[in-house]
Amino acid sequence: MQSKKIKILNKNFKDPLSCIATYSPAVTKILDGNIDIILVGDSLGTTLYDMNNTQDVTFNMMKKHGKAVIKNIKKSISVIDMPFKTYDSKIQALKNAKSLLSYTNANLIKLEIDEDKLSIIKYLIKKKINIIAHIGITPQNYKDFKKIKIVGKNSLEREKLIQLALNLEKCGVSAILLECVTENTAKLISSKLSIPTIGIGASKNCDGQILVFDDLINLRVISKKPKFVKSYLNFPKLLKIAIKKYDGDIKKRKFPNKNYSYS
Ligand code: KIV
Repeated sequence: MQSKKIKILNKNFKDPLSCIATYSPAVTKILDGNIDIILVGDSLGTTLYDMNNTQDVTFNMMKKHGKAVIKNIKKSISVIDMPFKTYDSKIQALKNAKSLLSYTNANLIKLEIDEDKLSIIKYLIKKKINIIAHIGITPQNYKDFKKIKIVGKNSLEREKLIQLALNLEKCGVSAILLECVTENTAKLISSKLSIPTIGIGASKNCDGQILVFDDLINLRVISKKPKFVKSYLNFPKLLKIAIKKYDGDIKKRKFPNKNYSYS
């Protein structure tokens, strides 16, 4: 079997795409060139601003974080999320997409999509906007994340999702992000499309993977981690050691010593 060619915006990749969502310029400097795609995701609402969902993330928040992050991207592909209720009609979507892309300099925007939004996508692509379509679980539709369930388990859901993905490819989206989709359904979608799929909770059967940076370093304050989150570093543990040392140095008047003082 011939393996799928992975290509985004005329850039070819020989291996699955590595992607990370972040909102921090300092983190971005480290990621740039070491990760294929950097997303300024609207998960910043829950991750950074302690919101219960992403529905209160504003256009201005995305603009400000987007600009600060993307300024530091020189090599990786940059993507920015359009927040909730900013792409409900063709005219609104185009105005906001253009504004977000020109303010932040992102390469692509990501939109959470269902069948009802296909005509908006078609219109944006006709107007030369580069898009990643986010399907499967679309968090902007949930006030309560505890209600999120995996999709693609039965044949009806599977067929609907496959059809949506095929329609989006036909519209001209650059890639499809699959969130919380069963292994089988992700495999079917990825094999039927020539554009890449990027998974989060959608198994290894995608052409790329994405995680939120804070999850990757075990930093997020959540009571129950989703099954798909793998932490590659226990940053809080390391941070506690450093903070204890700092606290101890202050108490023992070891910090600041002469090296850190002005004579
Ligand atoms: O907002 C975000 O960070 C995302 C990723 C989790 C895929 O959409």
